[in-house]
Parts: sequence; C-alpha cells; structure tokens
Amino acid sequence: EMKACCTAQLKGKKVIVTAGGTREAIDPVRFIGNHSSGRMGFAIAKAAVLAGADVTLISGVTNLETPLGVKRIDVVSTRDMKQAVDSLYDDADVVIKAAAVADYRVQTPAKDKIKKSEDTLILSMEKNPDILYGLGQRKKNQILVGFAAETTHVIQYGTEKLKKKNLDMLVANDVSAAGAGFKVNTNVATLLFPDGTNEKFDIMDKFDLAAIIIDRVTKIINKS
Ligand code: CTP
Ligand code: CA
Repeated sequence: EMKACCTAQLKGKKVIVTAGGTREAIDPVRFIGNHSSGRMGFAIAKAAVLAGADVTLISGVTNLETPLGVKRIDVVSTRDMKQAVDSLYDDADVVIKAAAVADYRVQTPAKDKIKKSEDTLILSMEKNPDILYGLGQRKKNQILVGFAAETTHVIQYGTEKLKKKNLDMLVANDVSAAGAGFKVNTNVATLLFPDGTNEKFDIMDKFDLAAIIIDRVTKIINKS
C-alpha cells in the first residue's frame, strides 16, 4: 500500500488545520493558557501538504517551524482563532481542528499590569464561542474533523462531541494513557465516525497518526 503522504490524493483541495493552544489575556503581561505544543496540528498540516492539498495552518503561539508549503496564520485568543477559521470556511473542503481552544476568557482583562495587593485574586471568566460547533451548524460540503482530549469515558464523550458538533470524524485522545498528550511526540488515539464505527490505535508517532487522519479524510471525500 502506498503511503498517504505521497500520492497527491488531496490535490486541489483546500484544507484548514488549527493547531496549538489559545491564550486569554489577564493583563498586558499575563495570560491563561494550556500545555498544547501544536505538534499534532503541525504534523497534520505537513501530511496534508504532502498529499497535495492547499493547506492553511491557523496556529496559536508555538515555537514550531511551519512545514514547507503550508500557509500560516498566527492567532492568540479563541476569538482570534474563530475569526480566522470562519473567514476561510466557506471556501474550504476540509477543516481539521486539532487546536486546544480555551473554553473561557477573562471577562475584563486589565488595561494596565495588575499590581499585587490582596492575598487572593479572583478573575471572572466568561465562556468563549465554540468554534467547531459553529462550523458544524453552517456545514455545507466541508469535511469536519474534531479532536477530543479525554481522561475517562473516551468513546462515550467522544461520540457525544461527534454528534453535537456535526463532525465527519473525531480523533479521541486518551490523555491518561502513557505516551499520549501534550509534551510528547506520540499519541494514543481512537477515530470515531458518524456511522458508529471506530478505529482504535496503539501508541504511535504523531506524524504517523497525522498520515492516517489524512488517509481517512481522503476516503470520506471519495465516498461523498
Ligand atoms: N473547540 C472549539 N472551540 C471551543 C472549544 C473546543 O472549536 N471553544 C474544538 C476543539 O478544537 C476540538 C473540539 O472542539 O476539536 C473538542 O474540544 P474539547 O475541549 O475536547 O471539547 P469541548 O466541547 O470544549 O468540551 P469539554 O472541554 O467540556 O470536554
Ligand atoms: Ca474544551
């Protein structure tokens, strides 16, 4: 079998990938963030470009190098990411949302640096828009792929997200498993599909998983 990477299966297809974590400002010098490295999303962008796609990578703050041939848009907050994704969505064939998106933002970030005074500091936060849910609502012919990082009930929670967000595939990561998650080059994933089938994979390199994800996306496109 030929590798997904070299057969130009996605030639002419516009693929959007989101990667990394979003950050929400507390004041001009501080933020609330998460441990996402961006590696999974960058690997997917690389696999998609190797498959011949026209790839735009919408990335949170990361140190990673942009894969050759990939267009990159840098964003900081969840709302920045939503704006970037939404503006490209109508034209896209595939959207893969690997980013770790901040669910809440600080309600009123301070204009000036917060000085230390009281012994406790309370930050009020409000919910961010769910970017992927919004894409699912206005989906036309796009193939939508989501991610879910879970520590328990991986299949159950993953299936709920797949349905609620109107996805064509969900990559559920068991982040409690050894070799999965944020800081490592490997992942432990189960792919969930709307027909109720799933594919469980052992621990593997993030680039190998990315190639499988791109291969399954190609199969979904060829079926529809
Ligand atoms: N996502 C998004 N916008 C958000 C939150 C999540 O687009 N505001 C996307 C993520 O990029 C991911 C998928 O939704 O592809 C699932 O994210 P996850 O955090 O696992 O699910 P949530 O719906 O946020 O639910 P919870 O965090 O409560 O488990
Ligand atoms: Ca979340």
